[in-house]
Formats: sequence, structure tokens, C-alpha cells
Amino acid sequence: MPSQLRVYVPDHPLIKHWLAIARDVNTPGVLFKTAMSELGRWLTYEATRYWFPTLDTTLQTPLATCQGTLINPEVPIAIIPILRAGLSLLDGAQTLLPLASIYHLGLARNEETLDNHCYLNKLPEKFAANTQIIILEPMLATGGSIMKAMDEIARRGADISLIRIISVVAAPPALQQLNTHYASLNIYTAIIDEGLNEKGYIVPGLGDAGDRAFGT
Ligand code: URA
Repeated sequence: MPSQLRVYVPDHPLIKHWLAIARDVNTPGVLFKTAMSELGRWLTYEATRYWFPTLDTTLQTPLATCQGTLINPEVPIAIIPILRAGLSLLDGAQTLLPLASIYHLGLARNEETLDNHCYLNKLPEKFAANTQIIILEPMLATGGSIMKAMDEIARRGADISLIRIISVVAAPPALQQLNTHYASLNIYTAIIDEGLNEKGYIVPGLGDAGDRAFGT
């Protein structure tokens, strides 16, 4: 069991390209949404590249029998978008993993107490021990919402070492909290930025991901 969080920043031209489009304040909403969807796709591709449950099989081509490898349909795959912003990554992730179950988790911050509360929780009561879990949370900033999400998911029996978080921009405060409490996690992010401003936004970041994705 690793004792330190693993954070992957894939060195991929398409990820860099779509990150630059998403960051640009002049990118219109429709293109911003495309950028987030593409980032969901390519980061999920990277997150499933080296370890994902497969099944070796023998199959028949029109000409001969040969060996093949499939994604193992017996192993449950769960995608958990953290609403709202996580929805912007869902199209891309779901295209690659069409058999995954999607469990929506809606979190909102109480602006007085600064606590995160769940306004929508479609998580199952219990995850099977071998469930592969992909959490979609584009902005890992203060760590408030991802820690709340992790607590809800861990409480339902998830194996933390089988969880991958897909984020677009990650910042040190969230990574430090995750490392303290869930060190066997794996994170795939397009970039790690320096820090946060006084309002908790990542700098340089990309602004409010939910507002930009949904035009609010
Ligand atoms: N959530 C966002 O959408 N943007 C940030 O910079 C931080 C949190």
C-alpha cells in the first residue's frame, strides 16, 4: 500500500491544448464545454492506461481464431461526477467507459459556515470491494468538496487504492488534505497550479468551472 498520494500530470499535447483553451478567458462557453469534455476523455484515457481489469479471451475473426483482451465486464466500474462542475467532464469519460454506472453527487458550500453539504446523493449503499471508481472533480482547490465526497465514498466500502480522481487543475491545499487522509489515492490532472486567492479560487486556474460550463 503506497504511503504517499500519486499525482499524475500526463505529458500529452492534446491535454495541454485543451487546458490552454479552457484557461483562456476569451474562450466562449460552447468551446469551454468542448474543452472540458475533451479533458475528461484524455485524462480518463490516461487514467486507464496501465491498470484496469481486463479479460483475456479467444475469439474468431472472419479468417481464424486469435487471442483478444476485453475490459472485464464482471468488474464494476463507477463514475462519480461531483456536481456541478464534474458534469462537464462526464461526456468524455463516459464515451470511453460506456458500461460504467454513473453515481451523481451534488455538493454545495454554505457561504456562512463554509461547510460542504450534499444536496444530491445517488451513491449506492455499498460498493463491491473490487469496484473501480473514477471521480470527476475538475477543480481541486481548498479540498472541501473532494474531502466531503471522499468521506461519503469511503463510508460505502470503496477500496481507496481503486479510486482515481480526474481533475483539470489541482492546487496544493487539496492535494495536502488528500495525502493526509487518503494517501493510497491516484489523481490524474492536467496541471498543478501554485495556489489559491483569498476567495479560494485557483490561480491562475480557469475561473469558476461550473459557471463557465453552464453559462451562469
Ligand atoms: N472551483 C472552481 O470552479 N474554480 C476554482 O478556481 C476553485 C474552485
